[in-house]
Amino acid sequence: MKNTNIKGQTAFITGASSGIGKACAEQFAALGVNLIITARRLERLNQLAEELSLQHSITVTPIQLDVRNLEQVDAAFEQLKQDHRDIDILVNNAGLALSTDKMQDAKVNNWETMIDTNIKGLLYVTKAALPFMIKKNRGHIINMGSIAGHGYYTAGNVYCATKHAVKAITQSLRLDLFGTAIRVTEVAPGAVETEFSEVRWDDKEKAKKFYQDFQPLVAGDIADAVIYCATRPPHVNVSEIIVYPQAQASLTDIYRSGATGKKLFDLPNTSKND
Ligand SMILES: NC(=O)c1ccc[n+]([C@@H]2O[C@H](COP(=O)([O-])OP(=O)(O)OC[C@H]3O[C@@H](n4cnc5c(N)ncnc54)[C@H](OP(=O)(O)O)[C@@H]3O)[C@@H](O)[C@H]2O)c1
Repeated sequence: MKNTNIKGQTAFITGASSGIGKACAEQFAALGVNLIITARRLERLNQLAEELSLQHSITVTPIQLDVRNLEQVDAAFEQLKQDHRDIDILVNNAGLALSTDKMQDAKVNNWETMIDTNIKGLLYVTKAALPFMIKKNRGHIINMGSIAGHGYYTAGNVYCATKHAVKAITQSLRLDLFGTAIRVTEVAPGAVETEFSEVRWDDKEKAKKFYQDFQPLVAGDIADAVIYCATRPPHVNVSEIIVYPQAQASLTDIYRSGATGKKLFDLPNTSKND
């Protein structure tokens, strides 16, 4: 199947300051897609915007945005409306896991941050972006799920719940948009080496160790999947893509060289929140 040319379209990406979101921005830019890149760390966004706009002669608009803040989200989209900006593709990527604690040991604050970011933030951004797409009866919403939304692991409790919610929101949004030409997709990665584990454990050493002894995915592998979905012809809606590293056979089984069948969270729990 021939890729659809998406040059000149505009993609709005959340969590573009790092990892998968940043890789998506780079790959969309290489296809000539204009960008609205958002995250909390504005300096990183400004630098990325400068690089990508120069390299690819596209418009890149960096916006400092905490997806948990409804007022900020609404204000950002209102500004885009005032500026007569279009949005063709929304990549709801901003998200995080915090700690790996069994429910009985967990910190409620961590739950709230994950729920507010991964579920409520995604909902706020989606609701604000939909009028741009409904108005022209065209668009594509790509939600970053996880294999944690397709299974369970010990101490995954609330992170798993948020990613199961992303899956449910993706599927039900497609039903809500039934009869429109808007596409809705979930991309669900396995283990990807980004800042994700550093954020999760607030422990650089532990994060580094987690990716040792097997070849994890890199952010670009997931951006490849996002680009694949976005470049299908308009009549094709990829419902979901699940991408594992070859060495990962399930949510909890990562084959680490030198050790047979070591499990995903075999590393000691050294979370600073313990
Ligand atoms: N890495 C993996 O193994 C893996 C596996 C499955 C799914 N995922 C999912 O992939 C997505 C991207 O993660 P990643 O691996 O690329 O991790 P990452 O490198 O830590 O990137 C996370 C991004 O989310 C942004 N973010 C976090 N909280 C935010 C908030 N409140 N408002 C706006 N932006 C926020 C961060 O930007 P700022 O800090 O600048 O705001 C950053 O750009 C997440 O949804 C994650 O759950 C990752």
